[in-house]
Amino acid sequence: MSKKTCRIGALISGGGSNLQAVIDACAAKAIDAKVVVVGSDNPDAFGLERAKKAGVPTFVADYGAILAAGKKDPASLKPPPNFDAEKILARQKLFPNGNRQKAISYLTARALCEATILEKMPPDSVDLVILAGFMRVVTPYFIDAFNMDPAKPRIMNIHPALLPSFPGVDGYGDTFAYGCKVGGATVHFVDYGEDTGPIIGQKCFAILPDDDLDSVKKKGLALEWQLYPECIQLFAANRLQVSAKKQADGQTRKTVTILPK
Ligand code: GRF
Repeated sequence: MSKKTCRIGALISGGGSNLQAVIDACAAKAIDAKVVVVGSDNPDAFGLERAKKAGVPTFVADYGAILAAGKKDPASLKPPPNFDAEKILARQKLFPNGNRQKAISYLTARALCEATILEKMPPDSVDLVILAGFMRVVTPYFIDAFNMDPAKPRIMNIHPALLPSFPGVDGYGDTFAYGCKVGGATVHFVDYGEDTGPIIGQKCFAILPDDDLDSVKKKGLALEWQLYPECIQLFAANRLQVSAKKQADGQTRKTVTILPK
């Protein structure tokens, strides 16, 4: 992959400032990549306008309509043809001790939404999927479609906190509310958990006495715009090696090694 341009599919939900940073980095040749398609679960996401302006094809996966139909009448949701409920249930980590039926309904509805993404962005049409402010959890149904080789994950996410601290939807808010003196952002490969995948890169900033949540978010976003293109370039240059290592606590964890140039 080091010689050919890395084809990126981006998923967004909102403003798309990270998407813009990646589009700009591609245009500036700071990364050997090209954003070839942008999808959103939100038809009003401003990021879709950014993509169109850059000449990138876009699509919308209508999560809202599919999930609302499932809520109204769960039996009406027919899973996609290749959906293997037992396999997905065994792999998912979103409902560790949860109710089996609830987990199946949740995963079936998400897989239906994800099937609409896979239709517009088939796994062989992109080399890398970037979640750039995509506010939906992705399930093993989606993840396995891209990660055919466990040693070569192909989905990245950017998270607004220094993982493993403050996973979830409000990384900067949680960091600030906790009284942290340092905040940051993390780019990681996506695995079956929420914000738990192998870490590729992190950047941090000081939280000073006169900072408020707004200034913390501004500082963080400015770093995200540097961090995501840098991590994507490492992927595009084939410099990310994922391996499972046994840790001192006896747990086996996948970590990323950055290979030299
Ligand atoms: C970023 O802070 C990102 O880390 C988080 O959502 C925000 C998206 O911002 N996941 P944008 O849509 O890229 O402007």
